[in-house]
Amino acid sequence: MKVHVYEKFWMWLSGALLVVFAGAIGYTATVQAVQPASHVETIDPTQLRADPRFATPGVSVGPDGGVQVVMIGQMFAYLPGEVRVPAGQPITFRITSGDVIHGFQIVGTNGNTMIVPGYVSQFTTTFEQPGEYLIVCNEYCGLGHHVMQGRLIVEGGGA
Ligand code: CUA
Repeated sequence: MKVHVYEKFWMWLSGALLVVFAGAIGYTATVQAVQPASHVETIDPTQLRADPRFATPGVSVGPDGGVQVVMIGQMFAYLPGEVRVPAGQPITFRITSGDVIHGFQIVGTNGNTMIVPGYVSQFTTTFEQPGEYLIVCNEYCGLGHHVMQGRLIVEGGGA
């Protein structure tokens, strides 16, 4: 079979690009140790209720006054389904999944992470605007994916 010279050129170019892309992933993963930022803390997804870190999901205030929100995502809801936090101060979210991969996006804010079973996703953000925010799952997780949502209420004024 005869392959046209231009066809050959594009085939080799495509092949070379694949090698470059794979090489870039390998290089950043090994040499530069670039990994998903929040996926450093592991947890047994079948034992969440027995794990002190997730036994009592909800909002808590640490000894240093820092506000922490612990939540579990599972088909097809968040636990708890509604949380209240103060405006204008850093809030640390710690979230994990009891079953499959879910998303956790606080609509209209920069609060957004994947929730992966076996890992604890953590991020800290500050909500300046008091109000009610919708939390949605933005990773397809099954038949009820579109109804998986929660509410974040940011309370402000006078604290
Ligand atoms: Cu949970 Cu989509």
